[in-house]
Amino acid sequence: MTIKVSMRVNGKPVSAEVEPRTLLVNYIREHLRMTGTHVGCDTAQCGACTVHLNGKAVKSCSMLAMQAEGGEVVTIEGLAKADGTLHPMQAAFKEHHGLQCGFCTPGMIMNAVDFAKSNPAPTDEQVRAALDGNLCRCTGYQNIVKSVMAGARNMASSGS
Ligand code: FES
Ligand code: FES
Repeated sequence: MTIKVSMRVNGKPVSAEVEPRTLLVNYIREHLRMTGTHVGCDTAQCGACTVHLNGKAVKSCSMLAMQAEGGEVVTIEGLAKADGTLHPMQAAFKEHHGLQCGFCTPGMIMNAVDFAKSNPAPTDEQVRAALDGNLCRCTGYQNIVKSVMAGARNMASSGS
């Protein structure tokens, strides 16, 4: 049995026939073929699958696609402008070397963008607390924290 699940993803209407048990992350990766959203654990621990649903960061491995029915989803592919200009948070990660292998990066950035909307000048401690649910096995976190602090300031000054 399949059901039709429809939503807007990165500003465009999408729909697909899926099994009811389909997770949102699999809907995004396998049915929409947007593979920037990663799967690192499938048990809601690593944060690699983080996307925005109706403006809030969610772990897309921990909800069903049909729970996002009619919703507004933004993935990492939807952050940069159409002309390729990076979102201020993406630019900060690039400038401050906030990644190594990049596997955790889409989830880190999606979570950081949501966090920075209400924290325009966060402290090191606040960033570390906000990223508690996003794991990175490469960087040691220091440059990620620096990137998020800079990205939050960039977002505030650019009105993002
Ligand atoms: S894949 Fe979703 S939290 Fe790890
Ligand atoms: S940069 Fe490799 S897991 Fe974070």
